[in-house]
Amino acid sequence: MDWTVWRDEFPVFGRRRYLNTCSLGALSRRVRAAQERFLDEWEEAGATAWYSTWMGALDGLRARFARVIGADKEEVGLAPSVSVALSSIASSLDYRARPRVVLSEMDFPTVAYQWAVKPGVERVLVPTADGIAVPPEAYEAAIDDRTAAVTTSHVFFTSGAVQDIARIARAARRHGALSIIDAYQATGQLPTDVHAADVDVLISGGLKWLLGGTGIALVYVRKDRIPQLKPSITGWFGNRHQFGFDPKAFEFWEDARRFELGTTSNAAVYACSAGIDIVLEIGVEALRKRTTELVNDLVDRVTDAGFEIRTPREPASRAGIVMIRMRDPASAVHALAERGILVDYRHDRLRASPYFYNTPEDNAALVDGLRPFRP
Ligand SMILES: Cc1ncc(COP(=O)(O)O)c(C=O)c1O
Repeated sequence: MDWTVWRDEFPVFGRRRYLNTCSLGALSRRVRAAQERFLDEWEEAGATAWYSTWMGALDGLRARFARVIGADKEEVGLAPSVSVALSSIASSLDYRARPRVVLSEMDFPTVAYQWAVKPGVERVLVPTADGIAVPPEAYEAAIDDRTAAVTTSHVFFTSGAVQDIARIARAARRHGALSIIDAYQATGQLPTDVHAADVDVLISGGLKWLLGGTGIALVYVRKDRIPQLKPSITGWFGNRHQFGFDPKAFEFWEDARRFELGTTSNAAVYACSAGIDIVLEIGVEALRKRTTELVNDLVDRVTDAGFEIRTPREPASRAGIVMIRMRDPASAVHALAERGILVDYRHDRLRASPYFYNTPEDNAALVDGLRPFRP
């Protein structure tokens, strides 16, 4: 694979070293062109584009996401954010006999907040000993027969640690609890087969490794779980008689569209579809291989330069996120931005997230720019 061809697809690389995909994937020419196409259709066809094109585009996006995670299209629904998708799933559960929800201290806050505000829900936050990972046994010990759901990340956003979602799903199933995986930091960069992993629900979105920008998320629900889940928040997109426009006639879709609520953001649907097309064209296996090489290279360089890494040591246990411990990561991020190197920070860590379009030269420039911040 000639990766430099892909670099040209992302014009930012003509001006900057962009190493921040885990906050926001870089903008490609294809995604920009897809936005133009959406605007042209809006201008020319107006509302008739819903029937001629846009309903089909929604289906196209469901199908693309299904391919990335090894699902069937009927198991995928659309949402404007992970928070909304999770709200729909959370509203389907009965917490009276099962008030507990198990998650971890390291999950993205939107996951924790979802359960924090739910009356009658008792959160069990599985702790991390090292601030990097949570052992799978800790989930197994925390899940019991009063657990409604286990909801945790495929990849942790502040360490890049990869979790064994199949094992967590198995533990949930043993106790009759629903497994819900927040895969935002995984989808696109980590090979995922939801059927093989046997997770009940997997939620992800366009923003990061799918290269699709803001305002779009996707929810997978395993086929046999769909009829059991009846959200208590909904909208006309969740109704199989959507275009009957009859306030008296509500019936859930039989497929995962039942988790959808209102009118989609079609600019976001177009952007996400174009982003996923790049992921599918390269292939997730190839993306994983490339990202692993870049991450290994960056970890070596950063360690040789005297910094402490807050990311798993074992390459198979980490994804495209490298966390570098610092006293003042915000200052380092700003200093790097002045040199045209774009990264981010969380807590006491600078966060660099190489993806296929990055190069060892980007890594070298980053580490060079970090020299004044050596501990
Ligand atoms: C793991 C993870 N989950 C969820 C989110 C965001 O969710 P939402 O789409 O609700 O903003 C992020 C980052 O933005 C994330 O890193």
